[in-house]
Amino acid sequence: MKVLVIGGGGREHALAWKLLQSQNVRQVICIPGNGGTAKLEGCQNLSLRVDDFEGIGRFALVHGISMAVVGPELPLALGITDYLRRQNVMVFGPTQVGAQIESSKHWAKMLMQDAGIPTPACEVFTDVDTALDYLQTQVAPVVVKADGLAAGKGVTVASTIREAQAAVESLFRNGMQPVIIEECVTGQEVSVLALTDGLTVRALLPAQDHKRIGEGDTGENTGGMGVYAPAPIATPELMARIEQEILQPTVNALRQLGIDYRGVLYAGLMITPEGNPTVLEFNCRFGDPETQAILPLLETPLEELLLACVKQRLANLSPIRWKPGASVCVVVAAGGYPGTFRRGDAIEGIEQAEEQGAHVFHAGTQIKQQKLVTDGGRVLGVTALGENFDQAIAKAYQATPYIQFENMYYRRDIGHQVASAGTLPQ
Ligand code: GLY
Repeated sequence: MKVLVIGGGGREHALAWKLLQSQNVRQVICIPGNGGTAKLEGCQNLSLRVDDFEGIGRFALVHGISMAVVGPELPLALGITDYLRRQNVMVFGPTQVGAQIESSKHWAKMLMQDAGIPTPACEVFTDVDTALDYLQTQVAPVVVKADGLAAGKGVTVASTIREAQAAVESLFRNGMQPVIIEECVTGQEVSVLALTDGLTVRALLPAQDHKRIGEGDTGENTGGMGVYAPAPIATPELMARIEQEILQPTVNALRQLGIDYRGVLYAGLMITPEGNPTVLEFNCRFGDPETQAILPLLETPLEELLLACVKQRLANLSPIRWKPGASVCVVVAAGGYPGTFRRGDAIEGIEQAEEQGAHVFHAGTQIKQQKLVTDGGRVLGVTALGENFDQAIAKAYQATPYIQFENMYYRRDIGHQVASAGTLPQ
């Protein structure tokens, strides 16, 4: 098979790397890819924009592409699957109408409310004054969300009504309405990524992301600064409930709307102190960095799973096989991220980091004049496996300091929820 992987982050490097471990996959082409996919044996980068559907479609037809796997939400929300399917290219990823589960939080909320899927109560506003008046009647904390895609910057968990008002004003000022004001639920967050062929679902191992930039889960929200899997909070019993109460009913509800959803249904869940799962948001794609921690534990060939979704035969597949043990991914970012950061700094030490037993996935990197340089906010993901979390965390943190670039930053507490005392770096 020749597979297209669309996107250029750590998630896409992990997808390409895992796909190339399948005997049936001869070649992966990443669009546009990054410095890591450029160096991956069997993989080639193609410099096209992810929204250049015509260019991607032409390439797929001319080069006999067997399947396209779409990484990021933007091309899905813009309808890449619809476009490529019309060219008879098989695509792993939902159609534009299905991608609304991520591209419109209001749409997703209505779907959940109609299907009785647990999710925090909310109100939707298209007018700033009505939203501000409504906030006067609320008690903090409250959550303020942009309806549409916001690259991880559309959610504010406001601890005061004043902060919530400022968030509402800022969203309206930036044209990001409608705005959703949501009840704030507490507990532990967990990411459950499920594969679906539009009929059945198969959940992957649950993962726990670290969304804030600062240690101790402080500071601004990011795309994710590190992750561990399998998250012990999602016990097998809880995973069974998540499948029965959330994932399968969502797929059924999509199908009842006539939506043919073949791809990842990613549930961002809060597990309440009473142990009940509730949906904070759905995404229509693999999570990042979750994918960088989950895929190294996968034993079933990835291409088999993705093809089973695309060909609507997931129900016939044997249970997904996993390696035992634990996985941790520490994201290495450019200083200043998630605000402004520099690109073009030389990166050293990846081989030495990998000699410590970790695997380094590239996210914001590129090769410029034969040198690997930074090219994004989240630059690398250092993933390590271990028999248990302490081993995986220790290995990841032993490897990470070998990596060097100007102003690099990483959190020193990824996995603090599962680490024994003394495992995390000082
Ligand atoms: N790690 C969060 C996300 O992929 O949206």
